Amino acid sequence: MSARDNVQIAPANGRLGVLIPGIGAVTTTFIAGVEAVKRGMAAPVGSLTQLATIRLGKRTDDRTPLIKDFIPLAGLNDLVFGGWDIFEDSAYEAALNASVLERTQLEALKEPLSAIRPMKAVFDSEYVRRINGPNVKQGSKMDKAEMLMDDIEQFRKSNGADRLVMIWCGSTEVFHRPGAVHQTLKDFECGLMKNDPEIAPSQIYAYAALKSGVPFANGAPNLTTDTPALLELARERNIPICGKDFKTGQTFMKTLLAPGLKMRMLGLNGWFSTNILGNRDGEVLEDPGSFKSKEETKLSVLDQILQPKLYPDLYKDFYHAVRINYYPPRGDSKEGWDNIDIFGWLGYPMQIKIDFLCRDSILAAPLVLDLVLFLDLAQRSGMRGIQEWLSFYFKAPMTAPGLYPEHDIFIQLMKLKNTLRWMRGEDLITHLGLEYYD
Ligand SMILES: NC(=O)c1ccc[n+]([C@@H]2O[C@H](COP(=O)([O-])OP(=O)(O)OC[C@H]3O[C@@H](n4cnc5c(N)ncnc54)[C@H](O)[C@@H]3O)[C@@H](O)[C@H]2O)c1
Repeated sequence: MSARDNVQIAPANGRLGVLIPGIGAVTTTFIAGVEAVKRGMAAPVGSLTQLATIRLGKRTDDRTPLIKDFIPLAGLNDLVFGGWDIFEDSAYEAALNASVLERTQLEALKEPLSAIRPMKAVFDSEYVRRINGPNVKQGSKMDKAEMLMDDIEQFRKSNGADRLVMIWCGSTEVFHRPGAVHQTLKDFECGLMKNDPEIAPSQIYAYAALKSGVPFANGAPNLTTDTPALLELARERNIPICGKDFKTGQTFMKTLLAPGLKMRMLGLNGWFSTNILGNRDGEVLEDPGSFKSKEETKLSVLDQILQPKLYPDLYKDFYHAVRINYYPPRGDSKEGWDNIDIFGWLGYPMQIKIDFLCRDSILAAPLVLDLVLFLDLAQRSGMRGIQEWLSFYFKAPMTAPGLYPEHDIFIQLMKLKNTLRWMRGEDLITHLGLEYYD
């Protein structure tokens, strides 16, 4: 610790185990990518922790280290991977199946990927309806939570992991609101014992992680840790958590553009977003229950950024719709269209069209890496509960109860970097800049 640090950051010594429920397209693209970068076969494009710099002090100070040199993060060579899936495929087979990366590239990574074989999953077809697989645990919900805790300890021992992080990259579960069973930790534990149908598989993983002292991130829109019971557990155990739903393709575009329209006080009549995608994620999202979870996180963004209550002349009653269509020929290569009807001076209408031919998992993989490394940093720094500074990565950032989330990606990045500056006792950057003109 340097004399200036605001928090005591334990060093990132030893191995960091990354545990992932769901060994599908995102997970295999993430792991294959890390293995490729480790072997010098590729650059970690899209990752803030690996490539971005951070300005320190005044603009005239010329201090802009890489983030990873400024703050102690686990190195890629120290990461070890494990996870769960309802299918028995190794990460190599799952990656071939996902067809995100080219076969020749995967061949070169066959050895490390084949070594990752999924543990038996906690699964409930009431929560993910379109798929089913054989690799699942049996027993009551409490039994399953205990089995997951055993898996975690086994993994810790057999991989010699000094620290662990869990990140949900499983399928999107059906939409549900917190019920009575989610109100307190006691209610939740009773619910596990009584097999309460309101407890989702992702919540059993999160519970097992938190009970085992493992930070938890949620890459999907499911409710998961966004409940009083699991928040209580995270705070009680001093464990950081964050979520929900990686901000990748269309919502990433939305949170780039919407703040700009608002900054210039341009009005909005409507924003119609539609997507086609053909991966397993797309197949699961065909189910109305899972789509509802996604729709909620995707729709929430514009209202918060545009603040129609503060700006009724510009944003009252704008029409906002989001559609996702499963279209198998496209695989992971999604196409997302946005038609945006805006208006300017004297109300004259204009249109913006976006056609984003993106690759979902290619956009998501670096976010998984950053979240794993930053959550581990948070844990080593004694930061507990919701990590709002990681909102940058999410479509529906978790916040303290009663607090609206910040969706503007430019504010989110400033919050993230200022948190790092604050941790190390550096001046926060306010962009006031009067000192240059004294
Ligand atoms: N790729 C993106 O850009 C992006 C962005 C935001 C959110 N997400 C979310 O990330 C998640 C993963 O996306 P993906 O494209 O890798 O999907 P995928 O369908 O390829 O992989 C998900 C995997 O989770 C497994 N699974 C489902 N329920 C499980 C359970 N209870 N326990 C263990 N495994 C389980 C499935 O068998 C599958 O292999 C999805 O929820 C998706 O909505 C992805």
